Amino acid sequence: MGTKSLCLLLASVLIAYYVYTPTPENIEERWKLMLINAGFRTVAHVAEFAEWLGLMHYMEVLMMITSIEYTAPISDENVTVTDTKFNNVPARLYIPRKQSSGLKRAVIYIHGGGWCVGGSAMEPYDLLSRWTANKLNAVVISVEYRLAPMYHFPVQFEDVYTVVKFFLQNSVLAQYGVDPNRICISGDSAGGNLAAAVAQQLLDDLEVKVKLKIQALLYPALQTLDLDLPSYKDNENKPILPKSLMVRFWSEYFTTDVSLQEAMASNSHVPAESSHLFRFVNWSNLLPEKFKKDHVYASPIYGSSRLGKKYPGFLDPRAAPLLVDDTKLLGLPVTYVLTCQHDVLRDDGIMYVSRLREVGIEVIHDHIEDAIHGALMFITSPTDLALGHRVANKYIEWLNINL
Ligand SMILES: *[C@@H]1O[C@H](CO)[C@@H](O)[C@H](O)[C@H]1NC(C)=O
Ligand SMILES: *[C@@H]1O[C@H](CO)[C@@H](O)[C@H](O)[C@H]1NC(C)=O
Repeated sequence: MGTKSLCLLLASVLIAYYVYTPTPENIEERWKLMLINAGFRTVAHVAEFAEWLGLMHYMEVLMMITSIEYTAPISDENVTVTDTKFNNVPARLYIPRKQSSGLKRAVIYIHGGGWCVGGSAMEPYDLLSRWTANKLNAVVISVEYRLAPMYHFPVQFEDVYTVVKFFLQNSVLAQYGVDPNRICISGDSAGGNLAAAVAQQLLDDLEVKVKLKIQALLYPALQTLDLDLPSYKDNENKPILPKSLMVRFWSEYFTTDVSLQEAMASNSHVPAESSHLFRFVNWSNLLPEKFKKDHVYASPIYGSSRLGKKYPGFLDPRAAPLLVDDTKLLGLPVTYVLTCQHDVLRDDGIMYVSRLREVGIEVIHDHIEDAIHGALMFITSPTDLALGHRVANKYIEWLNINL
């Protein structure tokens, strides 16, 4: 064997080794997903390296790379697309062109990206909004909230809240020809977190008279307290969202101070003074047996009260909607929750389903056995997956019937 072929063989082995990630057996297009995930891991390595060199913040690198996927607001034959502002917060607006005599439905969409990256202009989000507007003949508002590390909690929450509150005014709804009884708030991942938080806080806002008809939470992040749930343990190194990245997203939402990130990574960030909150995320009571498997519930490890005092955001229900009392769940709209089996955030969604059902809120829970976190992002070429299309269709179909 010549030196050249030896080098080639070695290179192929190294590449295969790099690309290969343990991927669940039941996932279709496994090798395509592995390639996509290798892309994600490469970006993560570049970001780590740039940060280590002191060139850029980790999230700035991720942001730069996701911004490649930004598209201009281009109208098509079915939908008029414009970038606009609602009470000074930017949003991308999709208005169906189809002439209809009656009032339209509306969907307020909050994109994911760990409160740090992403945007309504990203190709997959733009496409999902077009599909929604077209299929439902609905007005879609995709909110462009400000991101970490430049802005921390509660800025993200407040930006979304501002847009929703502005839109829910009767005069504004009339201007867009929207039926006040048929409005939905939806979001995926960190966007599902913001959607759930906004839906809760609206209940106490006496100035808002219009009620949301439904909320759709797509693999949402809903709690900061226990980052060692069975789903975190089972999926620590699954594609797209490893536990380390989720911990980083959570901590960056509140601060760039690494001490919070380190405490979260060892799940010892909650001060003993907040021990009463753990019952809201007690998976031993809130998870069905099927998801507990052989995990054993352990009592929380408490951290210093310094972190809780310095960054009270991570104990705030506007950041962690599972941390509210049952009485605060009453009055929430019909809820759609989509969870993915191979996702660190799986149990957040499932526990919210349990809590909502316990107080009598109508919940439709779609659990996708062969899905990974972020499935909805994979609907545009060349990174499209059959899974992405299936999940998007399921969600839009549900909306069409229930909104
Ligand atoms: C417009 O809507 C029709 C019918 O739903 C669809 O077949 C077509 O692909 C849509 N056009 C675009 C650009 O999405
Ligand atoms: C969680 O639930 C288990 C089982 O019901 C119980 O033994 C444990 O004390 C609970 N822990 C907390 C912190 O609520």
